[in-house]
Amino acid sequence: MIIRKALFAAALLATCAAPVAAQDAHTPVLAPATAQPERIVLNLTADTAHEMAITWRSAPGLAGLVQYARATPGPDFVKDPATQAAITDDATFAVEEDPAFSAAYHSAVLTGLEPDTVYAYRVGDGTRWSEWFQFRTAAVEARPFRFIYMGDMQNQVLSEASRTLRMAFRTAGDAAFTIHAGDLINHHDSDREWGEWFAAGGFLYAQTPQMPTPGNHEYVKDQNARAGSSINGQWRRQFTLPENGPSSVPEALETYWYTDYQGLRLISIDAPQLDRNEAERAATVAWLDDLLSNNPNRWTVIFLHFPLFSSDPDRDNPKVRAALKPLIDKYGVDLVLQGHDHGYARGAIGPDGPSADDAGATYVVSVAGPKMYEVADLAWARRTAERTQAYQIIDVAGTDLVYRAYDATGELLDSMQLQKP
Ligand SMILES: [Fe+2]
Repeated sequence: MIIRKALFAAALLATCAAPVAAQDAHTPVLAPATAQPERIVLNLTADTAHEMAITWRSAPGLAGLVQYARATPGPDFVKDPATQAAITDDATFAVEEDPAFSAAYHSAVLTGLEPDTVYAYRVGDGTRWSEWFQFRTAAVEARPFRFIYMGDMQNQVLSEASRTLRMAFRTAGDAAFTIHAGDLINHHDSDREWGEWFAAGGFLYAQTPQMPTPGNHEYVKDQNARAGSSINGQWRRQFTLPENGPSSVPEALETYWYTDYQGLRLISIDAPQLDRNEAERAATVAWLDDLLSNNPNRWTVIFLHFPLFSSDPDRDNPKVRAALKPLIDKYGVDLVLQGHDHGYARGAIGPDGPSADDAGATYVVSVAGPKMYEVADLAWARRTAERTQAYQIIDVAGTDLVYRAYDATGELLDSMQLQKP
């Protein structure tokens, strides 16, 4: 008995040691879908006051249903919920860990919702259900709200990047949505890494819409050889983002998109496509020009992965800058929120170069995960930080926009305020 106990202890030690090593190496471990609904995530649609998109996955062969109702203070909302069938993609496709990976991906867009109203919903197959989650629809008119902006999580997504995301939710648990500026994961089609991303947010993703734009790591690595290449197989299956990007770039559906939220226009630019898809660049710029020239909102935020102004002089994206900067200046875009450079930098840049905060768009580079690059002395930046995992909370309230960056411990790293009468 003593010997068996000793053997058991040795085995336990070996098991405990294994995950530490696995964090450093890229160890493919497949995360199979189960009968229980999982990876449940909300996305905003193009009609934030009347709709909500819900996406999740389960084991292959299972149906997808959503039940939802106006939330009530007590338990009565469960008595007579509406039931909506999801669109189910019973998919088999190649992921890094398995050339024939199978899962049922379910998505449903709830429509006809009341503005500024709390709804409860659950997802399942009619037998197995998730718990009830709650979300609030947007108001039709401009109304104060806040949102979270995350740079690249990308590396050690669960073990080391998750704390930044979770601190963001601790700081602003009432955020209307989260934007992710690309490179959510490191290996574009690694299902293990996507599993880490969903584990990092857990139930938070099911109650606060997550709004990502892709980075280069969401695409295959050979950028030059795949000018018009499609995004990884998980992206469109596990998110339900607005399908209102430039119609001439069908391979970038759900990567370029925009939506309006309570007085703010939010635009996702697919930076890898913009950078490498020379043939479609003019059409993409025309799409953006139209969005900016016909914009009834007071505030405009563009977010994309490749910075127009880098935090490292050896990293530059001249094609992206040349394509976007003239429109940003012309239409007075307020914030350009970016990733990719694994450092922190923030400054305003107008048509003639670096400027005061309120005379030009504010450009930010930020990183949420643990991978760090050098940050140079930058002529354009009013604040920089090196080796700092950060998250940002942006408060939009009428004529005021307050931007705050925090480091991963929750200390205020940077702040600035914009006013627009
Ligand atoms: Fe990147």
